[in-house]
Amino acid sequence: MTNLADRVAIVTGAGRGQGEAEARLLAEAGAAVLICDVLEREGEDLARALVSEGREARFLALDVASKEGWACAIDCVGSWKGRLDILVNNAGIINRKSINDTPLDAWERLMAINLTGPFLGIQAAAPLMRQNGGGSVVNISSNSAFSGHYDPAYTASKWGLRGLTRTAAMEYVSWGIRVNSVCPGLIVTGLNAEAPHLKPMIDLTPMKRSGTVEEVARLVLFLASEASSFITGEDFVIDGGFTAGAAYRRVAAESGLYRD
Ligand SMILES: NC(=O)c1ccc[n+]([C@@H]2O[C@H](COP(=O)([O-])OP(=O)(O)OC[C@H]3O[C@@H](n4cnc5c(N)ncnc54)[C@H](O)[C@@H]3O)[C@@H](O)[C@H]2O)c1
Repeated sequence: MTNLADRVAIVTGAGRGQGEAEARLLAEAGAAVLICDVLEREGEDLARALVSEGREARFLALDVASKEGWACAIDCVGSWKGRLDILVNNAGIINRKSINDTPLDAWERLMAINLTGPFLGIQAAAPLMRQNGGGSVVNISSNSAFSGHYDPAYTASKWGLRGLTRTAAMEYVSWGIRVNSVCPGLIVTGLNAEAPHLKPMIDLTPMKRSGTVEEVARLVLFLASEASSFITGEDFVIDGGFTAGAAYRRVAAESGLYRD
C-alpha cells in the first residue's frame, strides 16, 4: 500500500533533517522526488546521492515564502513528470524567543516560511494534482500546536498550520486531494541540536528519548500513500507520548503512583 511507483512528490526543506529523510523514503518507495530547499549544496548532494542509488530525484532552489518560487517549482515538476501526487510542506524555522523578545520582522519572517509557505504551496500544487485525480498533502506542524509553547511565532504558525490543514482538506476533497498534518515532538536535527531545552524535553517525554527523522518519515510515507486513503483533515502527533499527558505522568511518577 505504500508503493509510490509512478508517483511524483515535492518535499520542501529537504536539504537536511526530517525533510531529507522524508524525500529519501518517498524516493525509496518509488516516487520521483523534487527536493526543494534554500540550502543548495545539501539539496543537490541529496538529489545526486538518490540518483546514484537508482532513485528519481531532482533539486530545485526554493524559498517557500516566495509565490514566484512556487510557480517555478510547479512548472519544473510539470515539465519533468507532467504530474504531481504528493506535496510535503516540511520547511520550517524557529525563533526560540519570548513575546517580549520577538521583533516584528522575526515574527513576520517565521510566519512567511512556516505558514504562508504551506498556503502558497497548496495553492500552487492543487491544480496540477487535480489533473491526475488528486493526491496527498502532508503539512509538518508540531506538537507545540496543542499547547502554549515558549516560542510565540513558532507556536502560532504551527497551530495555524493545523487550521490550514483542515480548511484545505474540506476545500480540496472534491478534487481528490487529501490534506493531513504531522505533529512531531522532539526530533534532534539542525533545528535544535544546540538548543538548551533538549535535556528537559527528553526527561519529560514519557518514552525518555527524542524521535528520529526516520520515524517521522515513515508517518509521512503512510499519509502520502494509498495506505491512508480514507484519512483527511487530521493531525498525527508523533512525540513519544508527550502530548498524551507528560505533565500528569510526571505528577503521577513523583507522587509514587507509578513504579518506574
Ligand atoms: N526538530 C524538531 O524537534 C521538530 C519538532 C516539531 C516540528 N518540527 C518541524 O519539522 C520541520 C523540519 O524541521 P527539522 O527538524 O528537519 O529542521 P531542519 O532545520 O534540520 O530542517 C528545516 C529545513 O527547512 C529549510 N528551510 C528553512 N527556511 C526555508 C525556506 N524559506 N524555504 C525553503 N526551505 C527552507 C532549511 O534550510 C532546512 O533544510 C519544520 O517544519 C519544523 O518546524 C521539528
